[in-house]
Order: sequence, then C-alpha cells, then structure tokens
Amino acid sequence: MSENAKVNVKGNDYDFPLLEGTEQEVAIAIKKLRGSTSGVITLDPGFKNTGSCKSEITFLNGEEGVLRYRGYDIEELANKANFLEVAYLVIFGELPTKAELVKFEKEVNDKSFVNEEMKKIVDGFPRSAHPMGILSSMTSALTAFYPTPLDISSDEAIYKAVVRSLGKFPVLGAWAMRKRNGWPLGYTDSKMNYIENLLKLLFERPSETFEPNQKVVRALNKLLILHIDHEQNCSTSTVRLIGSSHAGLHASISGGVSALWGPLHGGANQAVLEMLEAIQKDGGDVEKYIAKAKDKNDPFRLMGFGHRVYKNFDPRARIIKSSADEVLAELGVDDPLLDIAMKLEKAALNDEYFKARKLYPNVDFYSGIIYRAMGIPVEMFTVMFAIGRLPGWIAQWVEMRKNNEPIGRPRQLYVGKTQRDFVSIEKR
Ligand code: SDX
Repeated sequence: MSENAKVNVKGNDYDFPLLEGTEQEVAIAIKKLRGSTSGVITLDPGFKNTGSCKSEITFLNGEEGVLRYRGYDIEELANKANFLEVAYLVIFGELPTKAELVKFEKEVNDKSFVNEEMKKIVDGFPRSAHPMGILSSMTSALTAFYPTPLDISSDEAIYKAVVRSLGKFPVLGAWAMRKRNGWPLGYTDSKMNYIENLLKLLFERPSETFEPNQKVVRALNKLLILHIDHEQNCSTSTVRLIGSSHAGLHASISGGVSALWGPLHGGANQAVLEMLEAIQKDGGDVEKYIAKAKDKNDPFRLMGFGHRVYKNFDPRARIIKSSADEVLAELGVDDPLLDIAMKLEKAALNDEYFKARKLYPNVDFYSGIIYRAMGIPVEMFTVMFAIGRLPGWIAQWVEMRKNNEPIGRPRQLYVGKTQRDFVSIEKR
C-alpha cells in the first residue's frame, strides 16, 4: 500500500505507513511514533483498536460473521474434518495428507502417557478445586518433566512439542474432573481416536468396558473444531505475551488456561449454564433478566451474549445452536434450559438495547447445553473450551516465535503524583 497515514501532533505533521492485509484490512504502522514525536504514544484500553501482530492463521470478519482457519471456512471444517486434522492445518498451515494425518494421530496418542509422578500433584489438590485451576497448574508442571527449552529453529523439535502437548493436555483436563469425582486417573487407548479417547478419559469407570457413543463423538468433534482458534483473543494474546519473553510453550499455555478461565472469556460457557439455571429457578421469566442486563446499576450481564469482534452473529454460535437441537434429540435429552436459552435469545434480539449495541449470542451461549447433554459437569465446560483451543494457542505461539517477535512490553500514560519530597514518619 503506497499512501501514508498523516498525524498532526501539536502543530507538527507526521507520516506513518499504511499496511494492507490479504483480506484488505488496513493498519497504521506506528512503530516509529514515539521516537519521531519525542515520546507521544497511543492509548487504547483493551486494545479495541490496536493490532498486536501480523498473523496467517485465522481471519475474522466481525461485521459479516466470517471465521476462517488458514483460508478454510469454519462451516466446512466443522462439517467435513476431524479435530486433529484441523489442529494440524492450524499449526502447520496446510491440511495433512492421509499419511501425514495417520502418523500425526498415532504420535499424538503415543505421547498421551502422563508421567505417574504427576499424579502426586493431582493428589495434592482438594476435591473442591476448580478443574481450570488444576489444568493450569498441571500444564505448567509439564515444564518440570520436559525442561529442555524448545529449539524454535528445529521443525523436528516443534513437531515433538506439538504432539506432546496435544497428547497430554486432554489427559490432564480429564484428570481434573476425575479428581473431583474421586475416580482413578485413566489413560488413552491406542485403538481409539482423539475424541473417543477424550470421552474415555472423562467417563470410563473401572468396573466397565468403555464404549464411546458415536453420536457424542461426532458432536464433540464439531464442537471442539469450532473452538480451535480465534485470532488475538484474550487467552491467545496471553500465550503470545508470555512466549514473547522466551518462556517455554507449556508455561505459556498454562497462562492461556488462566486467562480463558475468566467469565468474560472462556469461563462464560459455565456462567451461561448457571445463568439459565438461575432463570429456570426463578420461574423462567426471561424478560426480568433482560431488564437486569440493561440496568446500568445492576452488575448482571447476559452471559454468552456480545463479542469484541462479532457485531453480527458469531458463526460458531449459529453452528452450535443448530447442532444443540440435533444432539439433544439424538441423545434423547429434553433439556428445559434449551427452551429458556432460545426464549432469552429471541427476546434479546428483539430488544433495542441489544440491537443498538449489536449484541448477539457468542460461542459460549449454546455450547454448555450440549456439554450438559453429554453428561459433562458445568465446572468442566471451560476445560473443554481449553482442550478445543489448545491447537490455536500452540499455532499462535509457534508463529510468534518463528517471526522472532520482540518481547511484549506496552507503554502507559502516567496520571499519578508528580515529584514530591519524602516526609519523615514523625511528621505524617
Ligand atoms: C469469548 O475475543 C474472542 O474472540 C473471545 C472468544 C474466543 O473464541 O476466544 O470468542 C470467546 O470469550 C466469547 C465472549 C464470552 N463472554 C461473554 O459471553 C460474557 C458476556 N459478554 C460481555 O461481557 C462482553 O460482551 C464481552 C466481554 C464479550 C465484550 O466486551 P467489550 O467488547 O469490551 O464490550 P463492552 O463491555 O464495552 O460492551 C459494549 C456495550 C456496553 O454498554 P454501554 O456502556 O455502551 O451502554 O454493550 C454492553 C456493555 O454494557 N454489553 C452488554 C453485554 N455485553 C456488552 N450488556 C449486557 N449483557 C452483555 N452480555
């Protein structure tokens, strides 16, 4: 792009290059702003208008509700591919050949074995511990068992770290749930695929032979593909920021798990279910809760609604909503919370407050209904989000390191006390 952006600061004109991406998005490159203006910076709480990086992984168009991984529409990937196939695409940039996928799936499962010593760490948690806290801690603990820093110049070393992370992470997530249930901590089965093994890890009981329900396998495969990546969201930006100091991949992912836990982010899927249960308990009066969400004096928010980027329907929510009906019917589950969710959505989408602010259901609004129908406890919903998001975190971390991005270190606008002399304690 040839022309520049012109900025006038205190009577002085400055030119900054305009960059254009492959989807015609435009950015002002302000790398030289502070240096050329003797210290002027931009200020953008929440980075609502600020790009942190260039990326080739995921494209979102929030106005049109478009989501693509490496150029493929999410609708196609969710309906035509399996989770590890899309994980491979997002991480390595291309869809795998049949041979590459078979090798990848085998090596991920080979690496799913978690060192028995790690069970002692799980033992240390109280049964009441939230699974996201266990998952974040256990992910960071992987660094103790695999301390060698990842050589980012070696594709072989990256591949090994990728298959190890994808293999072990769901085991750690499932162990968090089994700890709460007082169940023995299990392992995968090399005869099962990734999603079947995830269900085995979650639900297998010592006294029974586990047989995955293929309807649940299909639904969970689609659900987790929808969660794989979402460009520079809060948890992914956290993973990138931690990794920018050259901290390890497991330490960076552990930070991403903690960021995702928040109810404004991935924790919303748990908060949505709790909200729907509260509305049900309160007689199902959705109008009352719509009014609460609009009341500025009421901290209540309609969880699962609104999005920083999507100012139209979240394409993932559309797919999840349609599969929620399907999954519940296939599983023979009649969940009154689904009816409440649909009433809530209809009321909100016809309300001026929500329409004016372009607040639509997001990925978290319906996903919990499906997880609940699968028998997954509500405290595990965000762990499921994390298991889905892991390939995206890995892909973004590897891209950031391969691009040799500088350590992330934002500036600030200081508004505190100006210089003043110390006052001895006798005079205070
Ligand atoms: C995820 O970024 C990603 O890509 C995230 C994610 C991913 O895949 O990684 O998509 C996953 O985190 C989805 C979002 C899950 N969170 C929730 O469902 C929590 C409820 N939603 C919100 O808290 C909110 O909508 C956010 C956090 C999602 C977005 O917040 P923003 O962009 O900072 O918007 P805002 O808080 O400035 O809100 C703008 C206006 C405000 O009203 P006014 O001050 O203009 O009058 O909209 C209102 C807000 O009060 N508003 C809501 C609302 N969300 C925004 N009002 C009621 N209910 C809500 N849910």
